[in-house]
Amino acid sequence: MLKFSDYLKGADKLREKLGGFEPEVLIILGSGLGKLGDRLSDPIIIPYGEIPNMRFSTAPGHAGRFLAGELGGRKVLMMQGRLHIYEGWEAEDAVFPIRLAHLLGINKLIVTNAAGGINTSYKPGELMLISDFIKLTGPDPLTGPNLDEFGPRFPDMSKVFDREYMAAFRRIAESHGENIHEGVYYYCTGPRYETPAEIRAMRILGADAVGMSTVPESIAARHCGMRILGLTLVTNMAAGILDQPLSGEEVIEAGNAASDRLSGYVTEFLEVI
Ligand code: HPA
Repeated sequence: MLKFSDYLKGADKLREKLGGFEPEVLIILGSGLGKLGDRLSDPIIIPYGEIPNMRFSTAPGHAGRFLAGELGGRKVLMMQGRLHIYEGWEAEDAVFPIRLAHLLGINKLIVTNAAGGINTSYKPGELMLISDFIKLTGPDPLTGPNLDEFGPRFPDMSKVFDREYMAAFRRIAESHGENIHEGVYYYCTGPRYETPAEIRAMRILGADAVGMSTVPESIAARHCGMRILGLTLVTNMAAGILDQPLSGEEVIEAGNAASDRLSGYVTEFLEVI
């Protein structure tokens, strides 16, 4: 298990690489959404491999580096590529960068992802504000001795996603004519897609979208008191809804197609928070 000193070591190196630049917001870019990074002019680029104790991204569409710069008048740190548990990393590895951000004084998180639509009123290409999550399986990033420096042993999860952030993002998206949903994200470890029976079960449980990320990071961010905006891009309908197989390429393509739109809203959101 990682010790608190391992996090301090990573945070020291990240701070050193940032060379006096002090980001206030962490943005995690999901599958196909990495293009938001192009909006930073002259970013500081830090490959994950340069940070001690940090793992690297192996998933398609995930570059595996931090970018730092100004966006929407804010100093931001972006993760172009995240770490997933399905890559073989431990849950604590997947949330390591969240805790580094906390140690750097960042208390705002925008976390994005691609997901399958479970709610049959959703359409591919639409956005969903994450109002809550369901995670009934898979390892929890807070397993093991509690690191009190980050937060309490039994953290409250009754409002993981910030209501004011949701309302602000909704106003922006709607001002651009977006039909934005608000719903529950069901976390699966992956890497396989779900079966139609699993999707039917998730719908009965109250889920609107399903994906393989975001929840570990949100748990760790909430544990250390961050305000969180969770954004889902529905890239496909979940298994069994349409009579067609799911593919990773389809997800990346849908992500790329929506990337500019979503990047614009995130930039405007940064201007108002
Ligand atoms: N299931 C799980 N993860 C996903 C999906 C899906 O249908 N689409 C994009 N990520």
